Amino acid sequence: MAILFQEEKRIFTLQTKQTTYQMKVDDFGFLLHLYYGAKVSGEMDYLLTYYDRGFSGNPNDVGNNRTYSMDVLPQEYPTLGTGDYRNSAFVLRNHDESACCDLRYAGHEIREGKYELPGLPAVYAKPEEAQTLEIVLEDAVSKVRVRLLYGVLEDEDIITRSVKITNYGTEYIVVEKASSACLDFITGEYDLLSFYGRHAMERNLQRARIGHGSQCIGSRRGTSSHQYNPAVIVAGKNTTEDIGDCYGMVFVYSGNFLCEAEQDQFDQTRILMGLQRDLFNYPLESGETLVVPETILCYSGRGFGDLSMKYHRCIRNHICNGARSRRKSGETGFIPRPVLVNSWEAAYFNFTGETIVDLAKDAAQLGIDMVVMDDGWFGKREDDNSGLGDWQVNEKKLGCSLGELVRRVNEEGVKFGIWIEPEMISEDSDLYREHPDWAMQNPGRNPARGRNQLVLDFSREDVREHIFDQICRVLDQGNIEYIKWDMNRSLTDFYSVETRQGKVSYDFVIGLYDFMEKLLAKYPQLMIEGCSGGGGRFDAGMMYYTPQIWCSDNTDAVDRLRIQYGTSFFYPMSTVSAHVSAVPNHQTGRITSLRTRGIVAMTGAFGYELSLGKLSAEEKEEIREQIRQYKEFEPLISTGDYYRLSNPFEDACAAWMFVSKDRKRVLLHVVLLENHGNMIVNYVRLKELLPDVVYEEEGSGKRYCGCALMQAGIPIPVEMGEYLAYQFVFTAKE
Ligand code: GLA
Repeated sequence: MAILFQEEKRIFTLQTKQTTYQMKVDDFGFLLHLYYGAKVSGEMDYLLTYYDRGFSGNPNDVGNNRTYSMDVLPQEYPTLGTGDYRNSAFVLRNHDESACCDLRYAGHEIREGKYELPGLPAVYAKPEEAQTLEIVLEDAVSKVRVRLLYGVLEDEDIITRSVKITNYGTEYIVVEKASSACLDFITGEYDLLSFYGRHAMERNLQRARIGHGSQCIGSRRGTSSHQYNPAVIVAGKNTTEDIGDCYGMVFVYSGNFLCEAEQDQFDQTRILMGLQRDLFNYPLESGETLVVPETILCYSGRGFGDLSMKYHRCIRNHICNGARSRRKSGETGFIPRPVLVNSWEAAYFNFTGETIVDLAKDAAQLGIDMVVMDDGWFGKREDDNSGLGDWQVNEKKLGCSLGELVRRVNEEGVKFGIWIEPEMISEDSDLYREHPDWAMQNPGRNPARGRNQLVLDFSREDVREHIFDQICRVLDQGNIEYIKWDMNRSLTDFYSVETRQGKVSYDFVIGLYDFMEKLLAKYPQLMIEGCSGGGGRFDAGMMYYTPQIWCSDNTDAVDRLRIQYGTSFFYPMSTVSAHVSAVPNHQTGRITSLRTRGIVAMTGAFGYELSLGKLSAEEKEEIREQIRQYKEFEPLISTGDYYRLSNPFEDACAAWMFVSKDRKRVLLHVVLLENHGNMIVNYVRLKELLPDVVYEEEGSGKRYCGCALMQAGIPIPVEMGEYLAYQFVFTAKE
């Protein structure tokens, strides 16, 4: 039993393989947090202390007991208006305009299996893999009920949290802020690790002490954003990659979010993860419910590497392809990916049907599985200033119908994929001329443009239906096995003529999920790759529908090392779409060898993004070999355990490895970032091998003991050249 309830003291204990989470309903009905961390036994309520704290409010029903204050006690779901002056998880605006909500325990239920969330992506599991705890809290005055949901995946060391807020009163109320998880630490000093960035340079790691005051990251862009990823780590001051306590919070949502970290007056720490409160005022009529997206919690006492590994397993097996699992089509977890060539950096907007067929012919020769026709095939679309919303094939440009093009590509033995950007509309489009009101805009004001395009109101069902029908008409024209779903601007004008204003930011994302759910229901075999100007919507919510996401518009191998490093803290490599592109690189002008570009791209869902026809015979031979190798190692890369072996922001080399579950096969990749005269030798130490087993390195035939590879490492050759890349394959021999 992963979930236990001790009735006398009303203590809930959630146990996973290596962690314990504990909370308690106290005498006044408040749900207090007791503990989260390494596995413990016994009751942790002895940790609660009560002292007279001046200027900290006391709930009315505790009488004149000045030692009892919500401002001090650790809580599961703190609200505004009860005397807790720290950041609140929940802010309710009552019908009479008062901002208060006093949540007390009203019951609970323990169930087998993992809860699902209507309309939202969430961790999924087989009934025997998980348990659910639902704790009901109620505000006696407003009759608002808050159901706290806890999903426990015991073997994975994963605890998920989500919240359903229902208005059981007679008058309408407004939810002004809603988080799905709160972590209160009564003791300890912590750092917050967050992942910031910009277009073409996503997910850089920042580590900052959580000091007194409030520190926050989030998004008001309508998407999870390039700027801050909706996932953080809370770590002890001395925690490193390999040692120490750390807690992850991963938000399973693709829109506006807010994560707040605060150290309070008594040096206690609170972290909240949930919906962004700006641009959000969610009205609930009597009987209505708001579902707050899920946060995935994980703890490791063995540093960031172990924490990442646990998240990788959870996201790969319990998030990716969730939309398929919900339909019970049987396909869950990892699904093998095609090696593809994408037309974008090969031709940009400048292609015809013949260009695509030529790409397919070259692809076939090299062993590439699929050609993806990127932007430019529809409506009037010779550049990025027009055409979005008109999803009719430009047959004049292609020189044939789409059906004919797909057939010709397939005849080469190559699969066909296509780019779409359904949430967008160009002012220069037939759709806009017909339905200007479908673009999101504030009344009486001109909408802000981004990449010279506007955003369709996806909170409206009629708008979604129109686009859905158009996209289906495209997909029905031939054997289209893959789409790249793009989203190339942030939202600005959060206004809808149909939807109430405080709901738009949330309902837009719900509309997006609804569209994807329907698309996958209609085309169950379709593979969708996510994209938002590269990695602007690289989040666990999207991964439920799009098990791989274009990681960044930056294809420079050296920059990618850093982008993929940051991405790897939460997201498994199978979600990281990575392509070999031409040199000089189109984003940085840097020149790296084909070998280096191949090794860096091979870390994820592998492909190419260059004009294959321009390659020399030697380069083609090298690519054939890269693909052969990728296919050989794909099971290891996609489903093995991944470990970071260096920090490419600080170290002279970037190094990482994949190891099979039985620890007998290892793929080690190293890229040297520095080269100097009379160069020192870099040694890379491997991780999590079988210490007493002898491993043979394939290339050299040399044998090493597992413990030697872990303790002393392996020397990386010193050679002339920049950004040299090395691959080592080790196999256990005994
Ligand atoms: C975005 C994507 C690119 C490409 C272009 C097409 O920037 O990230 O990969 O598809 O759009 O316009």
